[in-house]
Amino acid sequence: MTQQKILFVCLGNICRSPMAEGIFRDYVEKNRAERSFIIDSAGTSGYHQGELPDARMRVHASRRGYHLAHRSRRFQQEDFERFDKIIAMDDTNVERLHGMAFGDEQKAKISKMTDYCRVFKATEIPDPYYGGDSGFEHVIDLLEDACKGLLDELI
Ligand code: 4NP
Repeated sequence: MTQQKILFVCLGNICRSPMAEGIFRDYVEKNRAERSFIIDSAGTSGYHQGELPDARMRVHASRRGYHLAHRSRRFQQEDFERFDKIIAMDDTNVERLHGMAFGDEQKAKISKMTDYCRVFKATEIPDPYYGGDSGFEHVIDLLEDACKGLLDELI
């Protein structure tokens, strides 16, 4: 298998996309497929540049055995060249990425995380930032489902 470069994208890069990165990395490691993937995440905003994931997201992640050590960074146009698949968490971020893409080849790299869900019928990974604990748990439920679907598709 050739190496596949996957980038997860949300707005702040402190909740959903670093969580997606952490879950996908865990599944890839459990499948002993580390050498087959480069995995990263980014935000379409730079509001939280350099920060660790949101403390609430890290607490909910660690309860399920995931350790999140990513530092927030803003998505750059060059990421369209660096990555094979650019996976956004919601429609707004899909639209933002489409607005930054040059040409059909770059646009074709964009997809939405919920497209890979097999169990949940959701169409977006909802932003948990202004909500409570249940929102963070729901994000992890959706992302675990989507990451399983994504890995099945890629391996
Ligand atoms: P994320 O969540 O896009 O899943 O990282 C958010 C984080 C921060 C903000 C919004 C959403 N914010 O407005 O600062």
